[in-house]
Amino acid sequence: MYKITYAEQLAPNLMAMDVEAPPVARKAAAGQFIILRINETGERIPLTISDYDREKGTISLIFQVVGKTTALLAALRGGDTILDFAGPLGLATEVENWGTVVCIGGGVGTAPIYPQARAFKAAGNKIISIVGSRNADSLIYEDKMAAVSDELIIATDDGSKGHHGFVTQVLQKIIDRGEKIDHVVAIGPLPMMRAVCHITKEYNLKTSVSLNAIMVDGTGMCGCCRVTVGGKTLFSCVDGPDFDGLEVDFEELILRQRRFHSEEKLSFDLHRRHACGEGCQKCRK
Ligand SMILES: Cc1cc2nc3c(=O)[nH]c(=O)nc-3n(C[C@H](O)[C@H](O)[C@H](O)COP(=O)(O)OP(=O)(O)OC[C@H]3O[C@@H](n4cnc5c(N)ncnc54)[C@H](O)[C@@H]3O)c2cc1C
Ligand code: FES
Repeated sequence: MYKITYAEQLAPNLMAMDVEAPPVARKAAAGQFIILRINETGERIPLTISDYDREKGTISLIFQVVGKTTALLAALRGGDTILDFAGPLGLATEVENWGTVVCIGGGVGTAPIYPQARAFKAAGNKIISIVGSRNADSLIYEDKMAAVSDELIIATDDGSKGHHGFVTQVLQKIIDRGEKIDHVVAIGPLPMMRAVCHITKEYNLKTSVSLNAIMVDGTGMCGCCRVTVGGKTLFSCVDGPDFDGLEVDFEELILRQRRFHSEEKLSFDLHRRHACGEGCQKCRK
């Protein structure tokens, strides 16, 4: 059993949680993820390690409530426990002293980009961060990102803070002002990462993205998380989750992400309608 040591709602449908898992915290590195299962009947879901504390033995998670399992997880509080917590999984992010790195986080993607930006900074890079969200209330990790960035630019869709518009417009401005960019990292919704790569491809800028393909085992055995990168079939869980964004087949991945949409919707609807959370006959209304 893994104890939750902290749980807080950061914004509507956005949760932060620390989980006590000393063996995971000992080995965790930027870019890796865990797979958890809340209870015996629960499904396994992957979440990125947004931070870790080796001394306390804790792993920090930031997650959006999008369906049944994330809703069940969001209902847990400090002191509650999680049945399974496997990790760290996936390859750690490649960290080098490239020069100037632009780190782009979209929505909840800002959480996983933070440990990467911190590692790039520690390696001697100049960090320009672009953090985007729907509005000022949904912004996360602003202070943390400011602490590891030489320049931090906020963008909100509704203009309630920073640049009024998308992170891609800010990236284009940085390119237009003549900044010499050596590496770009983008983490966020698939359409956002695809749009970033559309720009960086034009300027031939090395770009890394983190792919959130649907996963089951997380160890390269089920084949569920396969993605096409540079014409080759790779597994997100063991070959990633970081990949060369200029080579990713985003169209295929976006289609694959929607594959279980009706089942996911049904499961979430049943969960919301039934007190037991399972849609059983007993509590059917
Ligand atoms: C490596 C990796 C890291 C991730 N890190 C984060 C994170 O830090 N924060 C965060 O909010 N989300 C993260 N996700 C996405 C998260 O796993 C899904 O939101 C979660 O599984 C949804 O489960 P659900 O039952 O609440 O929703 P569901 O209704 O089951 O699904 C909603 C959507 O979530 C995605 N999803 C569902 N099941 C899985 C699965 N087993 N594996 C991957 N995606 C799935 C699909 O796109 C689906 O349409 C990550 C995904 C991957 C692959
Ligand atoms: S999740 Fe099964 S192969 Fe990657």
